[in-house]
Amino acid sequence: MELAIVVPTFNEKENVRPLLDRLRRTLQGVSYEVIFVDDDSPDGTAALIREIARTDPTVRLLHRIGRRGLASACLEGMLSTTASLLAVMDADLQHDETILPEMLARIRTGKYDVAIGSRNLAGGGMGGFAPRRVALSNLGLAVSRLIAGQQLTDPMSGYFLMTRAFFEDVMRSTTGVGFKIMLDLIASSKRPVRFTEVPYEFRQREAGVSKLDLNIAIEYLYLVADKLIGQWLPIRFVLYCLVGAMGVAVHLSILWLLYVELRYRLENALLVAITVALLANYAVNNILTYRERRLRGWAFLTGLIVYALACSVGNLSNYALTKLLVDRGVWWPLAGISGLAVGSVWNFAASSIFTWGTAAKRVG
Ligand code: GDD
Ligand code: MN
Repeated sequence: MELAIVVPTFNEKENVRPLLDRLRRTLQGVSYEVIFVDDDSPDGTAALIREIARTDPTVRLLHRIGRRGLASACLEGMLSTTASLLAVMDADLQHDETILPEMLARIRTGKYDVAIGSRNLAGGGMGGFAPRRVALSNLGLAVSRLIAGQQLTDPMSGYFLMTRAFFEDVMRSTTGVGFKIMLDLIASSKRPVRFTEVPYEFRQREAGVSKLDLNIAIEYLYLVADKLIGQWLPIRFVLYCLVGAMGVAVHLSILWLLYVELRYRLENALLVAITVALLANYAVNNILTYRERRLRGWAFLTGLIVYALACSVGNLSNYALTKLLVDRGVWWPLAGISGLAVGSVWNFAASSIFTWGTAAKRVG
């Protein structure tokens, strides 16, 4: 087995057979397999692939449940093969399969780690991309320069072929979040990547719809942030701290309003401040920090209860310490911050284990 082509799929039923036909035509004489990684598409893509794979030994299926994500799907597909060369390609026929032999030929020379299908090289093109998508893509391109470490003409390309040696070199440093698996791999390399680019014209999608949305854009920023500072600080902890800072601001503003301005008793002001900050932190952490395990519907409510319980020890210490310090004559903002500092260390540990930890277990 020389080449594995990893194809992430989500609702691509119509495209599976046409893609396989095209690959068979272009890759005559090459020993290859196609690994579809499907995230339990509601349209039954996985069932169709399984049916084809029964009689076609070049086709394999990795069926994931309870999870989503192009990049992580590709990583798992690559890890599931023994082939010495690994390619990634979309299922929707937008990537021109006829350049695969050229990519393969260049990699076989042994001079490169990765051959990249590029839309921005002479001879290539963005195809029928809407002007808005082109603008978005250009913005992403500019941002990618921060982390790519190389002058790639199409760092956002999801179409490439690389050696197993290169993959194994970088795989443990990947972020695995979002859509940009190639950028992730290249930005994870500790040494300059030997790359070569092959131009192609991006095709129009004919069946099915694109999965690109606001979430994917946020995940892209997550990838960039992780590559910029992730080796020093876990992004999740940074996000948690940012959200925490917002919580501190909420907490202190309410204390100021109720205790200082409206002259409530400290106990009552603290209770309201802690409750509101708890609600705000929960909601924002759920959307931002733990977005890939986000709780919705009933799970959101039960998650809130678990979160409140998990944070109760931290919040009680916060309450007790703030009150103690104020009673001893410490200036109230200082007392408030001391209480928060002690409480939040507990809360981070407890909530990451109990609230989002159990949720992660539930979905697998
Ligand atoms: N398993 C899995 N899970 N596959 C997914 C998921 C997911 O959550 N989301 C998307 N896919 C699959 C799609 O089924 C398709 O085969 C491929 O990933 C690309 O998704 P599209 O929704 O068609 O994305 P796009 O056309 O906007 O962008 C793609 O092409 C660009 C140009 O090469 C992406 O691959 C970009 O990364 C790439 O830059
Ligand atoms: Mn597409």
